[in-house]
Amino acid sequence: MSDKPVILVTRKLPDAVEARLQRDYRPMLNPDDRLYSADEIIEMSAEADAILPCHTEKFDADVIARLPKNVRAIANFSVGHDHVDLEAAKAKGIIVTNTPDVLSDATAEIAILCMLGAARRAYEGERMIRAQKWKDWSPTFMLGAQTTGKRFGVIGMGRVGQVAAKRARGFDMEVHYYNRSRLSPELECGAIYHETVEDLLPHCDVLSIHCPATPQTTGLVNQERIAMLPDGAIVVNTGRGGVVDDEALIEALTSGKLFAAGLDVFNGEPDNIHPKYRELDNVFLLPHLGSATVETRVGMGFRALDNLDAVFAGREPVDRIA
Ligand code: DGY
Repeated sequence: MSDKPVILVTRKLPDAVEARLQRDYRPMLNPDDRLYSADEIIEMSAEADAILPCHTEKFDADVIARLPKNVRAIANFSVGHDHVDLEAAKAKGIIVTNTPDVLSDATAEIAILCMLGAARRAYEGERMIRAQKWKDWSPTFMLGAQTTGKRFGVIGMGRVGQVAAKRARGFDMEVHYYNRSRLSPELECGAIYHETVEDLLPHCDVLSIHCPATPQTTGLVNQERIAMLPDGAIVVNTGRGGVVDDEALIEALTSGKLFAAGLDVFNGEPDNIHPKYRELDNVFLLPHLGSATVETRVGMGFRALDNLDAVFAGREPVDRIA
């Protein structure tokens, strides 16, 4: 019997990542990409030295408490780690890692797509053509909001926020941001820092959310704060759905306070998102595609495997978060 560590891989991964897993480990793969329940994960972990999950599997304190002692690490295939109770993992001595950096470009691309899709009414236009309802062109037909030269506000100026800001500068946008701590001038690249979210909001023609989901950021973009945005602003969320209060956002989109929103992440995703989003014309919707490019998904898998390699070689994994 090989002494290679056994890795429980919860979802189907890109071929190159599974090939590396096969070469270096004894992986328990999921070729049908079935969503496992917590009970199944616990049961399948009986033989596993580590688990390689995605954000689609929840490791709350109860699940972590029930994991067998042989599980040494949870090497996430994600930068976000709100699906893992880090304190519970720490208490149990389970190493937890994530995959930062490798998805920043892809996610920033989606943020810009959401911004433009919302601003230029891409969903309405697409649907009109497909439904054969496009009958005319006129100077006042389907006017959108121009983003060039406007203000791009970022909540959460981490890696993804910084790349999104850089892309926005390509549209001559003036970048404003709130972050828990101010960036160095080299990283700021001229972006204007605001010490609180409340200070930032009045300066955002586009508000782009890039902060992690934590108890402190849950429902951060709520009715009071949306009211602080300029009239006709656009809200973009490619971080986590939990940062937005859906009722408040929907109310602002319906009343005309906001021009539009571009959303890639949702409370209750994938199949229990607020139903009203489906009805609104001024929302551009994507199904959590931020990191969904071939290059990035392979990069994420390799980064998760680099972390596992370190764990099993007795080294500190670069991306350890617990
Ligand atoms: C991430 O890495 O956090 C993405 O949202 C996919 O899980």
